[in-house]
This record gives sequence, C-alpha cells and structure tokens, in this order.
Amino acid sequence: MGTAHANSMLAGKVPRMRLTAVCDIVPERMQPFPPDVLRFDSSEALVGSDAVDAVVVATPHYGHTTIGIAALRAGKHLLVEKPISVHKADAQRLIDAHTDKSRIFSAMFCVRTDPHYRKLRELVQGGELGELVRVNWVVTNWFRSQRYYDSGGWRATWKGEGGCVLLNQCPHNLDLLQWICGMPATVRGFCNLGKRHRIEVEDEVTAYLEYANGATGVFVAATGEAPGVNRLEICGDRGRLVLENGVITFFRTEVPVARFCRESPNAFGGPAVWTIDVPPARDGGGMHQAIFKNFADAILDGAPLIAPAEEGIHSVELGNAMLLSSMTDTTVRLPMDAARFEALLQNLIAQSDFRKEAAAPATGDLGASFNTAR
Ligand SMILES: NC(=O)c1ccc[n+]([C@@H]2O[C@H](COP(=O)([O-])OP(=O)(O)OC[C@H]3O[C@@H](n4cnc5c(N)ncnc54)[C@H](O)[C@@H]3O)[C@@H](O)[C@H]2O)c1
Repeated sequence: MGTAHANSMLAGKVPRMRLTAVCDIVPERMQPFPPDVLRFDSSEALVGSDAVDAVVVATPHYGHTTIGIAALRAGKHLLVEKPISVHKADAQRLIDAHTDKSRIFSAMFCVRTDPHYRKLRELVQGGELGELVRVNWVVTNWFRSQRYYDSGGWRATWKGEGGCVLLNQCPHNLDLLQWICGMPATVRGFCNLGKRHRIEVEDEVTAYLEYANGATGVFVAATGEAPGVNRLEICGDRGRLVLENGVITFFRTEVPVARFCRESPNAFGGPAVWTIDVPPARDGGGMHQAIFKNFADAILDGAPLIAPAEEGIHSVELGNAMLLSSMTDTTVRLPMDAARFEALLQNLIAQSDFRKEAAAPATGDLGASFNTAR
C-alpha cells in the first residue's frame, strides 16, 4: 500500500504534495523509486530527516503506533494507515503523542469519501431517518485466499498483525459504522479463529451490538465466504435505508413509526411507505487521493480533516471488543477496558505455537483488494 501511495504522489495525483523520501526495512522495495527520492532503511532516520515535513505510515499494524509516535515527537505531520493501532491502549498512546496541534494528524479512512456512505451519514446524522432502531451490516465480500495470508510473515498472526478481518479489512467498515450510527453501548462478539484458512486469528465474525437508546445492531464479516455480500441496512423511526450493490434505497414511512404504533386504530399493517432511490453524494474521485488532498489542504490552508486520526480509536475499540467478548464469553460494555484487552492480546502472543511456512509473494491486483459501496 505504501508503494501505491508513493507512486500516486510521483504520478502527480496528489496536488501540493511531493515525495522526497521513502523507507523500508527491505531495501529492494525501494529500488524502483527515482534517484532524487531519498531512501532510508530505518523509520528513525526518515522521521529525523529535514527533507521530510509529513510522514505516511503504511507498515504492518504495530508499527503504526511506534513509528507514528516517533514522527509526531519529531514534529512531523502524520497520516497513518488504518487501523491507527492494533489495540485501544496503543491507540491512546499514539493519540496522546499528538500534543502539538499545529501538526496535522490524519488517518487513511479513505472509504469515508465514498459518496454512498457520505449520503447515509447525512441521512442518519441529519435526522432524516429518525431515531436509530436497528443496524445490520453483513460485509463478507472481503475474500482472501490462503496465498494472501502466506504472502507476509506478519500477516494473520497475533504477534505480527494483532488479528485478521477485524484488524485488516474491517477497520473501514467499523469506522463507517460508528461514523454513521455512533458507538454502541455493549458488544457481544462471536469470532471464529482460522475457520476457513490456515491462520491463528479471526476470519469470521458475528457481533451483536446494543446502543444507549435501545437500538440493536448485527455486524457480520468474513474473508472465507464466496460469493460475499455487502449489505448495510439501517432502520430508524422514519423507515429503512438499504445500501447494496452501490444503490441506496430509502423506504420512508409517511409518519413516524412510534407515533403510528401509538395512534393507529388498526391492529395490523404498518404506516404507508414511500420508496425512494437516493442519489449518492457527488463523487470526488479516488478515495486515497481524496484523503491525501485533504491532508495537504489541512496542513497548508487549515482545512478540516475528513478523518482526524483521533477518531480512529473507535474502530480499534469496536474490533477489540468483539474479540474480547468472544474470547471471554461475555458481553463487553463500552468504553472498553483497554488494559484488559492488551493483556489478553499479550497472552495470545505468548501462548502462540503457530508457525508460518516460508512467505510466498502475493500476486494479483492491489486495486481489486479495495471494497467500496459500488
Ligand atoms: N487504506 C487502504 O485501503 C489499505 C489497503 C491495503 C493495506 N492497507 C494498510 O497498509 C498497511 C500495509 O499493508 P500492506 O498490505 O501494504 O503490507 P505489506 O506487507 O505488503 O507492506 C508492508 C511494508 O512495510 C515494510 N516494513 C515493515 N516494517 C517496517 C518498518 N519498521 N519500517 C519501515 N518499513 C517497514 C515491509 O518491508 C513492507 O514492504 C497496513 O496497515 C494495511 O492495513 C490499507
């Protein structure tokens, strides 16, 4: 992903941003870059360089916290890939390092720029859907083959990645879920470890959520189901929103459902419904480029961030809570005890006897790995 980000800067797709340096602990990865781009084999050297004003961290997940903290302490602007950290305690450490607010700190929650999710947020947060009643998101079109998990020593291990579908693919969905519907009050997770792949971490998740107002939610994610589905359904007091196959449909009740329930003289039948095809918000082009452009606009002009990194703690907490709940067979109340999850993760790392076979290079189109509403 870091190579793709660097290449889009080199190709001039990111206005007002210039690639001055790259860093990788595997030097061959930096071979293709032009000679005027500085190369560093340690992140310490890169964040200390005067040639660098802003740092993009696209390493394996644990590095987001350590390299991110070093970059902020060195006075750099920072854009960190998702998830902002592996677990909530680390996310808080990273956020706490952002003491100089003149430095911009953003996260690559690029799917926030997808016009469909922007429109859903507008309808829910703007009150058009009425009070939240239920949200169901089944997002199982994140299929990954065994070859994918074998492609990097860090992948799909507690020690290297810290989790699987909740840590790598679903940070986008979990971020959107809380961005659109807010954070639930409790989480009950059921996570299956290595169910469809030879891995030690979760590749299939079902979670039941409850919100402070009594609304309920179900979140289902998997990387081993095919053909997968991506269907988001949000019910409110004014009807139901459905996003599937790139189409938003609003089944809008003529009157508020709770009022109809109280006042209807009939025993059966619900309120009249208007079925509306909702056009998505205006498309702004490439999702990653949109976040980069916004990052540059924030640094140079003070533009508000689309994805302030501080908000990244919520998706980390949701994913952690699903794992914690599943492994302790309990319902987790939010805000979650960050130290408890950190201890659980450390224990999983310490007890792991999973041995990866020699890493095979990943093949295939990176572009096909992204998952948008379309
Ligand atoms: N936003 C998105 O749409 C999106 C898509 C894919 C991946 N990602 C994120 O990008 C990050 C990287 O994922 P990937 O699939 O590119 O992994 P990858 O394994 O293909 O690449 C990671 C690179 O980081 C290098 N690296 C490891 N430790 C390092 C260190 N300490 N300092 C410098 N370089 C180091 C590795 O040598 C490797 O080249 C992850 O956080 C992932 O979640 C985001």
